Amino acid sequence: MTSGMLYGGDEIGALVFDPGHHSLRVGYAQEDTPKAEIPAVIGVAPDESIKLEPEAKQDNNNVTQSPNAWKYYIDTTFLYTPRNKLELHNYMSEGMIDNWDYFEKIIDYSYDKIIQSQSEYHPVLFSESPWNQRQKREKLCEIMFEKYKVPAFYLVKNAALAAFANGRSTALVIDSGATHTSAVPVVDGYVLTHLALNSSIGGDYLIRVAKEMLESQNIDLTPAALIASKEVVRDKEKPKYIKKNLSFTPTNSWMAYMVKKTVQDFQQSVLQVSESLYDERIASSIPAVHYEFPTGYHQDFGPERFKLAEGLFDQAVLGAGYMAATSASMCEVDIRPALYSSVVITGGNTLIQGFSERLSKDLSSRTPGSMRLKIIAANGTVERRFGAWVGGSILASIGTFQQMWMSAQEYQEAGKSQIDRKCP
Ligand SMILES: Nc1ncnc2c1ncn2[C@@H]1O[C@H](COP(=O)(O)OP(=O)(O)OP(=O)(O)O)[C@@H](O)[C@H]1O
Ligand SMILES: [Mg+2]
Repeated sequence: MTSGMLYGGDEIGALVFDPGHHSLRVGYAQEDTPKAEIPAVIGVAPDESIKLEPEAKQDNNNVTQSPNAWKYYIDTTFLYTPRNKLELHNYMSEGMIDNWDYFEKIIDYSYDKIIQSQSEYHPVLFSESPWNQRQKREKLCEIMFEKYKVPAFYLVKNAALAAFANGRSTALVIDSGATHTSAVPVVDGYVLTHLALNSSIGGDYLIRVAKEMLESQNIDLTPAALIASKEVVRDKEKPKYIKKNLSFTPTNSWMAYMVKKTVQDFQQSVLQVSESLYDERIASSIPAVHYEFPTGYHQDFGPERFKLAEGLFDQAVLGAGYMAATSASMCEVDIRPALYSSVVITGGNTLIQGFSERLSKDLSSRTPGSMRLKIIAANGTVERRFGAWVGGSILASIGTFQQMWMSAQEYQEAGKSQIDRKCP
């Protein structure tokens, strides 16, 4: 097996990029986990340093126009540091890359800081949403060949990759990420997009409802990044903390992101999906979970843990179990058994406690009795969260895959529209 292509006798490793709304996963094919997970937001602030260097102004006309002098902040450490006029932006929308300028900044960063090698040396495999648009696929292809001068490129739907990661080429892939949950049939490695279903209920939704609940209880959600020190207080007692002394007010976009991260930690630590339809009596009988916020405030959370998570399943036609059953039932009769016996669960939001059990229950109640139902969920959190990346890492290192790449030469000869033929 080779990890990439042979150039002048040197074996060059292929790279795998898996973009999502929560983060971009990037690393070398054949490795078990991505080298890095980079938050899918970019920080932009005026570059104050440029104004202090008059020589630089003379050298470069662009630099004198201060609106062009922006500095970009990428990755957790930089994003989490409060900074004057730092605005945070998303570059993804509806599962697709939307702001290409910001996206390229993240790719530049990936090569410079994570891969620490030149893009010309590495074939690149990208994952994409099953609903990615033709024009966006071509644009990505064009950028990778024209700007990054990659030797070879390939695009694969993330659901197919998640199936590969779990040892399947045929599966019903249930992916719950930040912005959506989907049920996607994959048959012999190909995604049947027209039979896939998608809802906009994912981790972001849970964070939104959790935030509303916490705010309605007047719980202070000040993020850790703004707290200088805190005192130990008793259960449910008003927090006693000192804020960092900043000479500026952080922007709304930065605050919103940091509060979201604060609630996200609460969501991941506290929320749980109940075994069957939410029932307050049953939920109340389950031991509460104690949680401490960055301010030092802490208390028990009981039935609300289940009530908040219920939205993932109890949504009539948008519940995960319902979508899975409906998608499978829309497929041809003869492939249904293969799908039901390979229901692959992937995406960070499926790590919420109880997700697999509830999906299994809701799906089996809708599965024909003669059908064997098998839920396949990687145990490791990394494998579960990065299913598509791991599948890409496996695919790009298989010997027989090496002839599949779209090469730079093919791109030169046939243009970007070739991507639709090479990567259906
Ligand atoms: N241990 C965990 N428990 C619960 N939720 C988790 C856990 N880890 C991650 N998440 C949630 O998973 C979501 C991110 O999942 P994932 O990385 O699959 O999303 P993505 O692919 O970047 O986004 P999308 O699929 O919407 O484009 C976030 O909402 C995060 O809060
Ligand atoms: Mg995803």
